[in-house]
Amino acid sequence: MTVPFTITPLEATDSAAIAQLAAFLPDVFREMSPGYMATLGEALEEIRDLLQPEHINLIARDEGDVIGWIGGQPLYDGHVYELHPLAVRPDRQHIGVGTALVAALEAEVVARGAGTIFLGSDDEMGRTSVSGIDLYPNPLEHLARIEDKTGHPFRFYQRCGFVLIGILPDANGFGKPDLYLAKRVGPASNVG
Ligand SMILES: CC(C)(COP(=O)(O)OP(=O)(O)OC[C@H]1O[C@@H](n2cnc3c(N)ncnc32)[C@H](O)[C@@H]1OP(=O)(O)O)[C@@H](O)C(=O)NCCC(=O)NCCS
Repeated sequence: MTVPFTITPLEATDSAAIAQLAAFLPDVFREMSPGYMATLGEALEEIRDLLQPEHINLIARDEGDVIGWIGGQPLYDGHVYELHPLAVRPDRQHIGVGTALVAALEAEVVARGAGTIFLGSDDEMGRTSVSGIDLYPNPLEHLARIEDKTGHPFRFYQRCGFVLIGILPDANGFGKPDLYLAKRVGPASNVG
């Protein structure tokens, strides 16, 4: 049986892996979040910023080629980890890499004794029904009726067991909200 990819920690000393990762990140985020890691230099800077000792950074590799990255940062005294970022190389999407990276992050979060993973997922590009409109005075009513239009990743996260827990209207300018999702992970003792 062949193993299509492996998931390992990204080490701050692994310059080759960091260079491979930075090379595809601008392509990954160009449509979803224009302006985020838009250039090779910005991608390298973001990777370096997120490679903190207390953070989780995991990469997927296919025969040595880096094809995905997931990060996690502790919040609320380590009770919660924020999932950020998640990126799969465009030519390797839809083969299970993203799902496997989320599962690997969950395992590491549980091992660290935390019970919740949280994330924000922007909609700057009209990808859902909650984008391009005035969400006030009842943002949560709009969120309860959310519909996907063009493949926003919130559906991916829901497939991974996350639930929508909130929305920040106009987070990126008028009509460009940030969707908040979370998932309880691990044993009850990790939450209590
Ligand atoms: C979102 C992303 C991480 C998913 O990774 P992936 O390896 O392609 O996902 P998987 O193959 O594990 O999961 C596939 C399933 O999740 C769902 N899915 C994946 N990407 C999706 C998306 N953008 N929108 C909606 N559903 C999606 C689909 O149901 C898909 O099944 P299918 O391939 O049979 O259609 C990847 O597409 C990516 O890097 N996108 C650009 C960056 C991004 O949006 N990151 C998240 C920012 S919050």
